[in-house]
Amino acid sequence: MRAFFPVIAFLLIASAAFGQPAGPFTAAQVDAGRQAFVQHCMVCHGNKLQGIGDAQTLVGKDFVDLWGHDTVKELFTSVKVEMPQNDPGSLSDEMYLNLVAFLLHANGAADGTTPLTADSAVKIGDIVNGKPSSDVAAGLKAAK
Ligand code: HEC
Repeated sequence: MRAFFPVIAFLLIASAAFGQPAGPFTAAQVDAGRQAFVQHCMVCHGNKLQGIGDAQTLVGKDFVDLWGHDTVKELFTSVKVEMPQNDPGSLSDEMYLNLVAFLLHANGAADGTTPLTADSAVKIGDIVNGKPSSDVAAGLKAAK
């Protein structure tokens, strides 16, 4: 009987994630990334990631068009080297990873059990679906 529990647990997890590709990041990273976004990015990229002025939209079709062909590592490196635009590279690697996890989540990628690392070769287009997650605006508002 015991031997079945792992199987059942696996099936539950698999069915919860069904229809949504699993992302190479954890829910804890997304939560930390959301806080960091509010603190360091929202002023320019907006409380719905819609972008303000020259600052890009970081969600939906625009994000997929821009990043779909790149790897998570490339997004991480880009963000670290260029953002926040008024103080590039000023955050810790851990914080940048959390921010990337949050951006992937916001674009429909599902979290998993493996934390995101800076060398992730996962192709962004394989895990995001371009449908903004419903909690993006709500989560950011609550944190404001
Ligand atoms: C002072 C305003 C400002 C802040 C703060 C800011 N950004 Fe940006 N961001 C911009 C502008 C302007 C662009 C478009 C021009 C460019 O790419 O440099 C941009 C572009 C981007 C892009 C598109 C790709 C790229 O790297 O060129 C990403 C992703 C991004 N920002 C993420 C972030 C994240 C994550 C943060 C918080 C750590 C952040 N930004 C903070 C202004 C800002």
